[in-house]
Amino acid sequence: MARLKTGALISGSGTNLQALLDAAASPDYPAEITLVISNKADAPGLARAEKAGVATQVIDHRDYADRAAFDAALDSALKAAACEFVCLAGFMRLLTPAFAEAWRDRLINIHPALLPSFKGLDAQAQALAAGARISGCTVHFVRPEMDAGPIIVQGAVPVLEGDDEAALAARILEVEHRIYPLALRLIADGRVSVAGDRVRITGAEGDAGAVLISPSG
Ligand code: GRF
Repeated sequence: MARLKTGALISGSGTNLQALLDAAASPDYPAEITLVISNKADAPGLARAEKAGVATQVIDHRDYADRAAFDAALDSALKAAACEFVCLAGFMRLLTPAFAEAWRDRLINIHPALLPSFKGLDAQAQALAAGARISGCTVHFVRPEMDAGPIIVQGAVPVLEGDDEAALAARILEVEHRIYPLALRLIADGRVSVAGDRVRITGAEGDAGAVLISPSG
């Protein structure tokens, strides 16, 4: 079985990257993490990749004149490693429309809210401030607009009385670690197609796009 060669872009702790690495450690997982790129040399996620025996590269955005030049460097590195697909995993730079178009339907992101609600930074704090009773996370194809694009998988969690941002973020993060490997598996298995603004999941796992977590976990 040819596994989908996947690059991951990170900026920080890389717990979602870890979930992808753990999934890909299983020989029957249909994708492999081929290369991890960080825009920050001190991102703890780099050590996770090294421990898993995955190639790493630091491409510091401050070394480039503008976003276009930085994104061109990302693109070259991904192509040099023969990556066919890209996962953003806590990558804290906005990508140019040109990059998003070049990797259209081959580039996915995870966001800690039920999109299209609470786009942008501090999504968990936004959910709390809005008094949401349910929040969660979304894996979606990337489009030039931030936190927009066809939704692949969502995971929902309750917002509990007394939650602060850290408590809600931790509850959501646990589900992120389940749905990101699930989404990549569905794609690598060829079950995901994009029609306009919507994703269709075919085959026996047609309902796999929804993951619900009850209050008891
Ligand atoms: C996650 O909450 C993810 O949804 C957001 O950035 C955070 C990254 O966390 N895009 P980690 O680096 O994967 O631990």
